[in-house]
Amino acid sequence: MGSTCVVGLQWGDEAKGKIVDLLCDHHDVVVRYQGGANAGHTVVHEGTTYKLSLVPTGILRENVDAVIGNGVVIHPPALLKEIAGLTAQGVDFTGRLHVGDRAHVILPYHLAEERLTEESSSAADHLGTTRRGIGPCYKDKVGRVHGVRIADLYHPAEFRERLKRIVAFKNRLLAAMLPDFEPFDDAAIAEEYLGYAEELRPYVADASSWVHAAIAQGRRLMFEGAQGSLLDVDHGTYPYVTSSNSSAVGVSPGSGVPCRNIDRWIGVVKAYTTRVGGGPFPTEQDNEIGERIRQAGREFGTVTGRPRRCGWFDAVAARYSARVSGSTEIAVMLLDVLSGIDELKVAVAYEDEGVAVETMPASLVDYERCKPVYETLPGWSEDLTTARSWSDLPTRAREYVEYLGRRIGVPVSIVSVGPDRRQTIMVPRN
Ligand code: IMP
Repeated sequence: MGSTCVVGLQWGDEAKGKIVDLLCDHHDVVVRYQGGANAGHTVVHEGTTYKLSLVPTGILRENVDAVIGNGVVIHPPALLKEIAGLTAQGVDFTGRLHVGDRAHVILPYHLAEERLTEESSSAADHLGTTRRGIGPCYKDKVGRVHGVRIADLYHPAEFRERLKRIVAFKNRLLAAMLPDFEPFDDAAIAEEYLGYAEELRPYVADASSWVHAAIAQGRRLMFEGAQGSLLDVDHGTYPYVTSSNSSAVGVSPGSGVPCRNIDRWIGVVKAYTTRVGGGPFPTEQDNEIGERIRQAGREFGTVTGRPRRCGWFDAVAARYSARVSGSTEIAVMLLDVLSGIDELKVAVAYEDEGVAVETMPASLVDYERCKPVYETLPGWSEDLTTARSWSDLPTRAREYVEYLGRRIGVPVSIVSVGPDRRQTIMVPRN
């Protein structure tokens, strides 16, 4: 087996961390290539629960290296806190974490800028972000004038000088928008961040060169997506997206590794759909069914604790994102959550005032008008959490999984029926 990419095909929280953790048995390096501390993975490894946000899941395996690529945005205090927490749980980082020197840095004014847009503009413009400074940091990155990269932190004199100019600009902007704004102190921020830089120094590397050297040594890589393909800034439900390429198209820009180095592309879906934050969600069930899924699936955000919006599986959206992310196989997660629901609905098309819509429309105006066209499948009553093989699953559960694969247009290879790695079923190939 060569290198693999694992991405979510919905709006995030597809339980990708479990798949990445499982596949670590066959990989030597795990690479994060986009996003930041907005992501949250809960991984149950050898009976212990770990919460990961910026650190790649591979860190939980002693013989695996973890890389944070240049496409990730890093809030140094968040990263250091996570390293400290995992170290306290017994995880050894020595020589195993490699933080890209080209990755951009989240600074305190990014958090203030995000609060400004999320709190004080018109409610219609609220995106429902995780408020981790992700969007403002990426804005500065592509805007080029105010972006700060990890490498910049190792040139203190130039960093202090530049930060003075950036902070003066940000202070003017924020003071104009916020009547009771307390200006940021550039010197204090510089000292704080230079301190973080010293703590991070053992981990900082030219991540892309490091990864290419690993490839040359024949090491097997796994690229771990954060968020989901439908939150991709180019291909998702814009503007209700995150600010990076969270589908598999982000692998190359975010890691410096071309796609030809990857041969397995796993698209991860839940057996239903969830979304946190604003934005269209045609199969949302804001009712008893949605609540039942939320409780059974413990659908509350890992990062923010927000209750997730829940609904039926949307095969139109999953088919679209499997195409964008080039999925060669599908992992269906949380199948056990659907036990006991008499009839399961799957959206197989959309309809806009009687006209069939085959794919996801670009305009939110059009998308919000789309009504799902459902097919109904019989549910099952059995508890699935003890199933260990494909044949242990009730016929109706197997039929549901096969149906999802047919509708997505990509075969399902893995089914998960619980958080533990033993609760994972490999689907036999026909
Ligand atoms: P941001 O990434 O914090 O800018 O938030 C943008 C949108 O992406 C919001 O709707 C968030 O709820 C959503 N989002 C960000 N990270 C995640 C994640 O890890 N899982 C699910 N949704 C996310």
